[in-house]
Amino acid sequence: MSLSLAVLVSGGGSNLQAIIDAIEDGRLDASIKLVLSNKVDAYGLTRAANHGLPTAVLQHGDYDSREAFDAAMISTIRDHGADVIILAGFMRILTPGFIREFAPNILNTHPALLPSFAGAHGARDAVDYGVRISGCTIHFVNEIMDNGPVIIQAAVPALPGEDPGDLAKRILRYEHRIFPQAIQWLAEGRLSIDGRHVHVQDAEAIPAASTPGALVCPALDEGF
Ligand code: GAR
Repeated sequence: MSLSLAVLVSGGGSNLQAIIDAIEDGRLDASIKLVLSNKVDAYGLTRAANHGLPTAVLQHGDYDSREAFDAAMISTIRDHGADVIILAGFMRILTPGFIREFAPNILNTHPALLPSFAGAHGARDAVDYGVRISGCTIHFVNEIMDNGPVIIQAAVPALPGEDPGDLAKRILRYEHRIFPQAIQWLAEGRLSIDGRHVHVQDAEAIPAASTPGALVCPALDEGF
C-alpha cells in the first residue's frame, strides 16, 4: 500500500533526502504529503522545496504548551492528508496525545544502537563512553523517548580517537539505507509488532548482512 508520509525535521534533512531519493527512483512506495519543521532555518525545508514538496513551519516557541504545539502539528499533518509520521532528525519530544493519534505508524531514526545512548547526542555519547561499536536504529515510536520496538539496526565500528562528528557522519550513511528500507517494509505490510518484538516478514530468515563498514540486521533488500 502506498504510504502518505509527513516527514518531520529540525535540521539538515539528509535522511529526508534519502527518503525522497528512494521514492523518486521507485524503491519506496510512498508519497511525501508534508515536510514539517519546528525550525524556520532547517535545511531540510530547502531540500523539500527543491523537490516541489509541501512544507510547513511550526515554531514550538509560539505555543503555550507541548500539547498546544502537538495539536497544531496534528491538524497541519491531517490537513495535508498524511497518516504515517517519519521522524527524520526531529529534535522535539512528542506528547502522548500526538503518539496516540498516529500510532503505530510513527518511525524514528536514532544514531546509536538502542537502548544504548538514547537522547539528543547518540553519536557523541557513544564516543565519550569509549564504545568500539555503535550504529543506528530505526524503531516504532512509543510514549517513552527512544524506547519503541526496533525494526532494523546497523552496527558501525567506532574508531579509537575519532571525532564524534566523524562517527555521526559514518553512521548517517547507514541511516540513509536502513530508514527507507524500514519504511518500504511498512508499505509492503511486512512489519508486525508483538510486544517489544517487530517481525519482518520474509527478512528474518536471511542472516545479518555485512555491507562495507557495517553489519545490518535484518539484512537489507536488494536496492537499499
Ligand atoms: C540523524 O543522525 C538522526 O538519527 C538524529 O539526527 C540526525 C539528523 O540528520 N536524530 C536524533 O538524534 C534523534 N534523537 P539529518 O537532519 O541529516 O537527517
